[in-house]
Amino acid sequence: MSTNNPGTGIHAEAHTVALELNGERRELEVQPWTTLLDLLREQLGLTGTKKGCDHGQCGACTVLLNGRRINSCLTLAVMQDGASVVTVEGLANGGELHPMQAAFVEHDAYQCGYCTPGQICSAIGMIGEGRAQSKEDVREQMSGNLCRCGAYPNILAAIDDAAEQTREALGKESTP
Ligand code: FES
Ligand code: FES
Repeated sequence: MSTNNPGTGIHAEAHTVALELNGERRELEVQPWTTLLDLLREQLGLTGTKKGCDHGQCGACTVLLNGRRINSCLTLAVMQDGASVVTVEGLANGGELHPMQAAFVEHDAYQCGYCTPGQICSAIGMIGEGRAQSKEDVREQMSGNLCRCGAYPNILAAIDDAAEQTREALGKESTP
């Protein structure tokens, strides 16, 4: 399908992209300029992933791409053909929250909640990376996820609490 990029007058062809999205295979038509974030929010209605800065600086848009955390505002959807994408909507197992989600609830690790989906996805990705060996490491590795409400102490407590269970869920043996 040939379309215009609004405001630029540029004509481009839509591309078909296959994604495994929250465990379900999807084939999607995307414009070459569509970010993964806009695909999720605008095209698919998965509004759990938030748009904050849209410039890679706040972490609100963090999702898991092939198991690794990524700022979805910084990647084009067409670049992710064949990838596995997990958003906050895909973390729970049926009616059971992911351990990291449950820990955020338990520790009151949010105020307005706008940063929360990104914080949770980032924390799970960080544990999967297996590089955070201490609370200081966690603070450092989570520094790309900003919280304007300043809920950092509770966020760190939630991550600390859920680390072991998350590691087990990911099948990891290393110690974040
Ligand atoms: S919206 Fe992507 S990093 Fe801020
Ligand atoms: S809870 Fe409001 S921005 Fe983090």
